[in-house]
Amino acid sequence: MNVVVLTGAGISAESGVPTFRDADGLWEGHRVEDVATPEAYDRDPATVQRFYDERRAALAAVQPNAAHRALARLEHWLHDDLLIVTQNIDDLHERAGSKRVLHMHGELLSALCGACETRTPWHDDLHHGPECPQCAAADLRPDVVWFGEVPYEMDRIFDALEVCDLFVSIGTSGAVYPAAGFVRAARAYGARTLELNLQPSEGSLFFHESRQGPASELVPAWVDDLLS
Ligand code: APR
Repeated sequence: MNVVVLTGAGISAESGVPTFRDADGLWEGHRVEDVATPEAYDRDPATVQRFYDERRAALAAVQPNAAHRALARLEHWLHDDLLIVTQNIDDLHERAGSKRVLHMHGELLSALCGACETRTPWHDDLHHGPECPQCAAADLRPDVVWFGEVPYEMDRIFDALEVCDLFVSIGTSGAVYPAAGFVRAARAYGARTLELNLQPSEGSLFFHESRQGPASELVPAWVDDLLS
């Protein structure tokens, strides 16, 4: 069986990483237009850099939860027949042991050079203007895809959706495209579709089945079912 799993902020919520659109979510405390657009970065790079520096520092204090670990366990059985497509910029899937992970919205632990466009693994702050290890320009920004920018890996993602038997969406509100459209693409290609989310998402009706509850319970239970 070939499986594509799409994850969103909800899978990392129980690890202590805030979601975006829930009460106490990140977009409640910040305006998207102030921190997550190329225009915001052009206008006020220091504010944007500090916002992501804080997120990067906070990542060091959190751990993968049972949902991340269950997906790593599933990869152990399915190998190349499992692909995780995540909208998350944290590294919790990797820390749980998953290897086949595409970060369509980029990664906190990566820096993107505005001069030479090289992507460099990055664990420190960026607000003080460090040099790009490749070209020495002091033009490093968070390697995250902001609103108005093109997500990464779209060709590989649609290739995977085309051949999967099962598409599972975990912990995402279904509010942001193109990820919100993956369920309909997978269905059109013939896959069965399942949603695992705390509450029905904006796209719930597009799934064959929708289960509600915390990811740390639903995901291990679903993986157990699949492997039994
Ligand atoms: N278990 C399962 N689902 C949960 C949990 C949990 N413990 N906690 C919250 N959720 C669900 C919420 O009900 C909500 O539907 O996770 C979803 C989180 O939605 P968003 O905050 O909108 O996050 P996400 O869907 O990942 O956002 C998509 O939007 O802001 C941009 O680039 C950002 O990648 C992000 C994209």
